[in-house]
Amino acid sequence: MCGIFGYVGHRKDAACIVLEGLKSLEYRGYDSWGIAVLPESGKSDGKIIVRKKTGKIGDATADELPAGSIAFGHTRWATHGGVTQANAHPHLDCTGKLALIHNGILENYHEIKPGLKKGGHRFISDTDTETFVHMVEEYSRNRLVSKAMQRAFNEVTGLNAFIILAARDKRLIAARNGSPLVVGYGDNENFIASDASALLPYTRQVHFLEENQMAIVSGAGIMIFDAKTGDLVEPHKQVLTWSIDQTVKGKYPYFMLKEIHEQPGVLAAIAADYTSQAEKLAATIDRSYGTYMVGCGTAAYACMAGSYLFSKIAKRHVNWAIGSEFTYQAEFLTPKSLVIALSQSGETMDTLEAVRKAKEKGASIYAVVNALGSSLYRYADHKMLIGAGPEKGVASTKAFTGKLAHLIMVAYAMEGSVKNGQKVVTAAAKSSQKVLTESSVRQLKELALKFRNVRHMYVIGRGLSYPASLETALKIKEISYIHAEGLAAGELKHGPLALVEKGTACIAFLPNDETYGANLAGAMEMKARGGYIIGASYKPHEIFDTYVHIPDAGEGTIIPNVIFGQMLAYELAVIRGLDPDKPRNLAKSVTVK
Ligand code: F6R
Repeated sequence: MCGIFGYVGHRKDAACIVLEGLKSLEYRGYDSWGIAVLPESGKSDGKIIVRKKTGKIGDATADELPAGSIAFGHTRWATHGGVTQANAHPHLDCTGKLALIHNGILENYHEIKPGLKKGGHRFISDTDTETFVHMVEEYSRNRLVSKAMQRAFNEVTGLNAFIILAARDKRLIAARNGSPLVVGYGDNENFIASDASALLPYTRQVHFLEENQMAIVSGAGIMIFDAKTGDLVEPHKQVLTWSIDQTVKGKYPYFMLKEIHEQPGVLAAIAADYTSQAEKLAATIDRSYGTYMVGCGTAAYACMAGSYLFSKIAKRHVNWAIGSEFTYQAEFLTPKSLVIALSQSGETMDTLEAVRKAKEKGASIYAVVNALGSSLYRYADHKMLIGAGPEKGVASTKAFTGKLAHLIMVAYAMEGSVKNGQKVVTAAAKSSQKVLTESSVRQLKELALKFRNVRHMYVIGRGLSYPASLETALKIKEISYIHAEGLAAGELKHGPLALVEKGTACIAFLPNDETYGANLAGAMEMKARGGYIIGASYKPHEIFDTYVHIPDAGEGTIIPNVIFGQMLAYELAVIRGLDPDKPRNLAKSVTVK
């Protein structure tokens, strides 16, 4: 879950390039950061200079760093060892001529570290990571650094990405299993990063490192080889199609706000361009005996919504599970089963573990994923890109509604009319546009002002509005830190109603569907106990203390409903003085278990 960026080439401002790369990757971790640069010849006795800081990278400059044409850096999301300057990456070996950055967890470090200590290696941090740089130092005494790294890599356990900056060879040497790495090909300069989007200002030609591949990156070229055998491997070069505009905030103060506003456009594009993809997935479901959807967090709520959509529209049972729970339910899978994995990043470890388990059982994997070249994308038997463009806000927004749009189209394709799916998604795009007009947003700002200091909020819905409630509550708690709970309205009377008191904020989703009456009953139960009812509906009702107009879009209404929830969460975060792009304790792309 850490951001990684490395440069080697003809420019002398490698540290500045790395710093800018890290800033564009900060969404992957923002506890602390660090950069290592090898100064130009003769300036440091061949030693690598490292600068590390705790906190966000923010407006940091590379002023304190020397000129040099090879550098790399890291933004950290702490797993092992507290958030301190010493624990931030890069880590140096005893000679100061090898530096290391790492993403993942080195599981057997405690078995290796004592031997290194005995051999005289000095450890400075509390991290698992530091063990690896001393291993490479030890093994490179009598062999090439790349060979030493290969040996070390094959001795450690866990899911990791390592990059060593070797002063001796002026190269970056990388190895991965589990955590993503991508190399970028430039002109007399080359790059490495944890996310392809960071490479866009420099190159569009990339190779995503496969599991157990290593890369030697120098100014002259990139060599890819198999970490087990040491054999050279032909890279699978791909061209990135995302534009740079898609990766910057532009006129918006936060990525999250930008991405929320991009949704109507993304939805309209999905409706227009993805009919054949929807039909392909529908046909695959039709051919399978038992289909299971899997995802984590927000993506899991998309799966849950999918299960309602397939039942309602296609009259088909498609089950779903949370990624981290899936393995405990997967025993019944057979080679005829289909597992549809939904993920923005395609790197979520729990989702990847779930599909690995499904593969063991012989099931086919269909990835619905936003990030081209991601682990899930490469691992799946069949794949479909969500087409939401790069998502940088930690809280997933447009990738979520993009997933819903695809699922609506697929459900309609199964029912025999993908065109009706297009109509529903187009209506959802229009309704979403209305939710985002200036006057609607003003109303949400007022609500945020009113509820900015509450301790709890409740969100209720039935049917498709149940996953909408869970997702709205997740967004509120994740970025505003107000405790919010999404509930199936029918469950209120089975317990949660005890929590409602005078003034408790209750959001009720009341779309124009079969759930309206029963859900209104739930809202009334809350109102009768003093709850303040925020009714998100296509028509007003006298029990609403605040009415939020959500234009009807059939089954697609779940989309504008959620967008209202995203926008309210955003306004709550901003009014509470929080950075919605960087919620505490979280980071985008959860590459650990
Ligand atoms: C919440 C959120 C997370 C992600 C989850 C899965 O706003 O963004 O819950 O949805 O970590 O991520 P992906 O979709 O990348 O697999």
